Formats: sequence, structure tokens, C-alpha cells
Amino acid sequence: MNRFEGKTVLVTGGNSGIGLVTAQAYAAEGARVVITGRDEASLETVRATLGANAVAIRNVAGTVAAARELAQKLTDSNIRLDAVFINAGIAKLAPFADMSESVWDETFDINVKGPYFQIQALLPLLNQGASIVLNGSINAHIGMPTSSVYAASKAALITFAKTLSAELLPRGVRVNVVSPGPVTTPLHVKLGMPDEAAAQLQAQIPLGRFGTSAEVASTVLHLSAAESAFIVGTEIIIDGGMSQL
Ligand SMILES: NC(=O)c1ccc[n+]([C@@H]2O[C@H](COP(=O)([O-])OP(=O)(O)OC[C@H]3O[C@@H](n4cnc5c(N)ncnc54)[C@H](OP(=O)(O)O)[C@@H]3O)[C@@H](O)[C@H]2O)c1
Repeated sequence: MNRFEGKTVLVTGGNSGIGLVTAQAYAAEGARVVITGRDEASLETVRATLGANAVAIRNVAGTVAAARELAQKLTDSNIRLDAVFINAGIAKLAPFADMSESVWDETFDINVKGPYFQIQALLPLLNQGASIVLNGSINAHIGMPTSSVYAASKAALITFAKTLSAELLPRGVRVNVVSPGPVTTPLHVKLGMPDEAAAQLQAQIPLGRFGTSAEVASTVLHLSAAESAFIVGTEIIIDGGMSQL
């Protein structure tokens, strides 16, 4: 399929994990892809896999200033967007009793404030009919111990899909969320998750395995393409049945 021929898409956090695989999937279907992230080296390495016209921009998300800076860089390069995958995010787990203000602030800055103000800053650059997909998590739906702050941050995105879709409807812009269950990415290494904890998590997934980034990417591309035009302000859960069965 070549659903994104002639289209330009932005993937935040496109230099690792789910974002990287999704950026490559868009590129494989003809899109010009812009990726962001923090790590210079992987940004350049991944950009080189996305085709000659791909763009990598270092952007440390989580402030209004960073959101505006990214939008300005796109404007300066005459880039307008047909799809946006707001994917950059962090997960920091701790028991409720030990949760710190700094983890709260960092999580809400990167996972909630960043996406909200990034979309706001991008508004002038969105083409008619543009599709925005937010990367949530099934943690918004289940009471997993130690996930209180992360889960709340992802729950906020589900409401943004509804409220922002309602406000952007006159411009033909829709916002949806994908909510993955456990997916094999560098995130779990960053979490420092011991093997036994990963095995316990896996045991809670009815399909008996973690998901793949490609399984998330295929849903993101579906929500980004015109074929899903009637899907507005909602969420697709991709979790091997973990939150449902
Ligand atoms: N893996 C899972 O099991 C799972 C499940 C549900 C939801 N998710 C969500 O999926 C998204 C991607 O996670 P992943 O699993 O693919 O993990 P990952 O490999 O750690 O990717 C996270 C991405 O976000 C970027 N990022 C983080 N903070 C950033 C910041 N302040 N500014 C700019 N970029 C930033 C990272 O860039 P750098 O590498 O440059 O820091 C990286 O590209 C996250 O929102 C996560 O919550 C993951």
C-alpha cells in the first residue's frame, strides 16, 4: 500500500521503540517523515533509514517553549503536516507511598503538557483533514500497582482526543488515541524492569506475549489514513486482551 504518498507526517520520539517503527512504516508507504527525539546520535541514524527527504529535529519535549520551537523549525522549512503521531513519552514507576513530586512533574510535563501544547503550536501547520494520533497506554484502564502517575498521564490523553477533536472538527482535523499494552521496546530497559517482573507482566497478557512495535504502528497508520475518516475522538486498545479478558 502507498497510503501516504505525497503526505508529510511528524512522529515525536521517532528515534526509538514504537515511534521508530511507526516512522519507518509511514516512510515505507511513501510519506515524507519528520522525527523528533532527544538523542542526537539515534536521531541521525534513524533519519538515514527514512528516505532522502526525511527530517530529524532534536527537541526536548515538555515545555511550551519546546513545542513552539519545533513548530517554528517546521515553518522555517515550509513543512505542513497531514498526520502527527504524538508518541514521545516516559514511564516512571514507584509505589504510591514513595512517589515523588519530581516524577509527577517530569511525567506530566513530558506525557501531558508536551502533547497538549505541541498540538496547539502545530495548528497553523495542519492541512485540511489532518489526523493526529496520541500514544496512550492500557495503564489508563487498569489498576497496575506502581503505575499511578504514568496511568493518570495517559488517561489525560484520552480526554484530549475527545475535546480537541470537537474543537478541531470545523478544520477537518481529528484526534484519536492508541493504547498499547506491554510492547517490547527499550522502554522496559529504561524502566530497569527485572526479568521476573517482565515474566509476571507477560503472564497477565491473555495472548501470552508482549506486543510488537509493528502491531502498534499498523493501527497508527490506519488512524492516520483517510480510510479511518469516520473514527473521531476515540481510542483503540492494542493489548493482547490484557485489559479486556
Ligand atoms: N513499550 C510499552 O510497553 C508501551 C506501552 C504503552 C504505551 N507506550 C508508550 O509508547 C510511547 C513510546 O514508548 P516506547 O515503548 O517506544 O519507548 P522508548 O523506546 O523509550 O521511546 C520513547 C521515545 O520518546 C522520546 N522521548 C521521551 N521523552 C522525551 C522528551 N522529553 N522529548 C523528546 N522526546 C522524548 C524518546 O527519545 P530519546 O530516546 O531521544 O530520549 C524516545 O524516542 C511512550 O509514550 C510510551 O508511554 C509504551
